Amino acid sequence: MTAMGSHSFERILIIDLGSQYTQLIARRIRELRVYSEIVPNTITPEEVMDKNTIGLILSGGPNSVYLFDSPSIDPKLLELGIPVLGICYGLQLMGKLLGARIVPAEKSEYGKTELTVIDPQSELFAGLNPDLVCWMSHGDITPEPPPGFKVTARTMNSPVAAMENPDRRLYAVQFHPEVTHTPWGVDLLRNFAYRICGARGDWQMADFATQAIGEIRERVGEGKVICGLSGGVDSLCTAALVHRAVGDQLTCIFVDHGLLRLGEADQVEQAFRENFPDINFIRINASERFLSRLSGVTDPERKRKIIGEEFINVFEEAASRVEGVEFLAQGTLYPDVIESKGIGMHAQVIKSHHNVGGLPEKMNLKLIEPLRDLFKDEVRQLALSLGLPRRLVYRHPFPGPGLAIRIIGEVTPERLELLRKADHIAMTEIEQAGYYDQVWQALVVLPAVKTVGVQGDQRTYGYPVVLRAVQSEDGMTADWAKLPAGLLERISSRIINEVPGINRVVYDISSKPPATIEWE
Ligand code: XMP
Repeated sequence: MTAMGSHSFERILIIDLGSQYTQLIARRIRELRVYSEIVPNTITPEEVMDKNTIGLILSGGPNSVYLFDSPSIDPKLLELGIPVLGICYGLQLMGKLLGARIVPAEKSEYGKTELTVIDPQSELFAGLNPDLVCWMSHGDITPEPPPGFKVTARTMNSPVAAMENPDRRLYAVQFHPEVTHTPWGVDLLRNFAYRICGARGDWQMADFATQAIGEIRERVGEGKVICGLSGGVDSLCTAALVHRAVGDQLTCIFVDHGLLRLGEADQVEQAFRENFPDINFIRINASERFLSRLSGVTDPERKRKIIGEEFINVFEEAASRVEGVEFLAQGTLYPDVIESKGIGMHAQVIKSHHNVGGLPEKMNLKLIEPLRDLFKDEVRQLALSLGLPRRLVYRHPFPGPGLAIRIIGEVTPERLELLRKADHIAMTEIEQAGYYDQVWQALVVLPAVKTVGVQGDQRTYGYPVVLRAVQSEDGMTADWAKLPAGLLERISSRIINEVPGINRVVYDISSKPPATIEWE
């Protein structure tokens, strides 16, 4: 299906040339209240004109523009009269297409670099201090700008650190304004969006919700919709939008696979019934089915596969009880869309990330994905604007396969119970100490090995648990959280004293990469 809720917003298109920061550019632009969309470099001038486009950004990229096969764009995109901003590789590509020479630099520039703005008249740098620090990451340079362009900024090693041809509405910077290491980068992007592209700033969540609800209503008509709930903010927000649109034509199905945290299944149900008292809600307790299929399984990918398959079986059975269903609502987010379309050139599968929301095509239902244009932080804003409780909106991410991938080894009822208790203590302490909202995600892992301990003169032989807490922007990279020693000590002592069977707590101090956030 096409994107929902965003057709009429003015937009800046970001042409992906392979940079790891492409999504970041899109987020920054949206933070400026201008809708942005990432598009492949094969986009045609006609497609650009079709999209209510007010500006184009050429992203960075890891290649050299002079290499055979390096990504390019249709040069006519530079002649549409729509403002274009090239960033890093984008500057070099613009330069090359318009007749500049691009050569390997004698000295590459990586990291923080002093920048001197030499043209105070430049609209791009309007209102900015002329002596700035920017973040660079390039090995090629443009010794001179293409004909008709003027240089607006330079650094020690980049004679063309920024260039422009305002008559043709073409602008480019060698540095990365989208990363936080260029602290004023957002001001430059604001200048581009507002002063150069003439944005109105019409992208806001309340309007998005109204528009999405209208579109769902129109599409669904008198039809029936089902929606799978996981307890996470994405499925909850999807259900809330669909419910606002079509009321009791929606049935929500919550499959409790028995791999959730302590009391969590009940909390999901309760939160749901409180917030949507009149909604059709089916809860299926399927823990025995899942546990028996997981018996004897230790391989992480097999666990994910089994849980994914079983989830589909249970969901299909429940869905078949709802008569005449035509639509399936899913909480797919923009990063999933980008990944599945392969627009981002860096996507590589490390774990299959089998989400229990992924349902089979053979169900033959039409998809409703009202969040497919949104980033996670935007979904949270939307959820708040729909009146969903903060506690659910800011819940840490939790993997679809649940605690099964936090038990390293076979999943057994005994290990699940130990892990639930330990996790509950850790989360309660982290919350009480005020750290829950300060970390991206905190979790407890139970490796199925036993270690020796001593408690009250007795030798013990029990499980260790691993506490992990990370800081991250999007889960793609992460740093271990520097939780205070006193908090770690309290968590350790409570777990060991209150959960017989666990005699050791360790804290995971690995960042991602090279480790991942989950242990499996
Ligand atoms: P990793 O472990 O890959 O995790 O660093 C990154 C983020 O993804 C979550 N995660 C999953 N989510 N199904 C999910 O729905 C999965 O199979 C899965 N594996 C990891 C993880 O919790 C973290 O937020």
